[in-house]
Amino acid sequence: MEKVKALVLAGGRGTRLRPLTHTSAKQLVPIANKPVLYYGLEAIRDAGITSVGIITGDTGAEVRQAVGDGSRFGLDVTYISQDAPLGLAHCVLIAREFLADDPFVMYLGDNFLVGGISDLVGAFRRGGYDAQILLTKVAEPQFYGVAELGPAGEIVALQEKPVDPRSDLAIVGVYSFSPAIHEAVRAIRPSARGELEITDAIQWLIERGRSVQSHMVSGYWKDTGRLQDLLECNRMVLEAVEPANRGTVDGLSEITGRVVIEPGAVVENSVLRGPVVVGADAKIQSSYVGPFTSIGPRCVIQDAEVEYSIVLDDSSIHGISRLAHSLIGRNVEVSRADGTPNTYGLMVGDHSRIQVRA
Ligand code: G1P
Repeated sequence: MEKVKALVLAGGRGTRLRPLTHTSAKQLVPIANKPVLYYGLEAIRDAGITSVGIITGDTGAEVRQAVGDGSRFGLDVTYISQDAPLGLAHCVLIAREFLADDPFVMYLGDNFLVGGISDLVGAFRRGGYDAQILLTKVAEPQFYGVAELGPAGEIVALQEKPVDPRSDLAIVGVYSFSPAIHEAVRAIRPSARGELEITDAIQWLIERGRSVQSHMVSGYWKDTGRLQDLLECNRMVLEAVEPANRGTVDGLSEITGRVVIEPGAVVENSVLRGPVVVGADAKIQSSYVGPFTSIGPRCVIQDAEVEYSIVLDDSSIHGISRLAHSLIGRNVEVSRADGTPNTYGLMVGDHSRIQVRA
């Protein structure tokens, strides 16, 4: 039997996570201080797949830097660059040479799936299908590809981001394909958003009577492309971290719940209420860090309160009470404007979102 390959998509614009994604790949945003992409690569490796093609876009250099040749993950990685984000089916088109005539799993690099993909790959191989998709119930199906199922659970039709969804079953960003998909991606035309949609390619297979199977996702799944989903995913992962103190905590500090403190991190006169992770060489002084918060490496939190937030590497938060539901990028400074009452002093990147108390 041919070996199953993986095609990991790590391009795209990530418009919903601007301004972070002006300079950085959305697939490298950390969940519990580890890039979301790494969780996917580990799941691929754990399913016994070694040959992985990674599609990259404008942030290709950063993705290459983070993943390298893949050996660190036990993978053999080939990079394929996409000149413009022309859609998921376009990614399959440009990966034709890498994929050859092998079956493959296509994994969207910003998707987070608990429970791995070993069972899915096994079911796909045993079933001999042309395509296998995963479905899950969501509250807002209009933001996803949506599947309409028949009485026996068979797929009737798929639609990409329908205005009037016919079900609440979203298509999860982990697909399995036989080489039949290559004909489909060549046959379809761009959608209204100007992209070659993988959803349309699978619909094309369905219309031609090819075998397309769906499975309900049993575990947790999130597309981390939006802030609220990212924070929620971070919460879920933090809830399962093993508490560990590899840094230094002084006697005036109080640590409760699941808290991970990485080497070189210093906690002084502070309250850390888990689940929380504090990255290597970070400093937390006279502060409160509340549940579901990831503090990146080398951050400085001083006289501040932070809760339900993700703070990326090398940022500092001084004299702020209280930061919550926030995503703070790299090398960001958030501080109190002393001496100027009722004034906000901002220097903010393009497409930033700021919420202040009225
Ligand atoms: C893509 C697919 C969509 C799928 C989603 C899952 O959407 O087009 O069908 O439900 O991934 O994450 P996009 O992230 O490109 O908007």
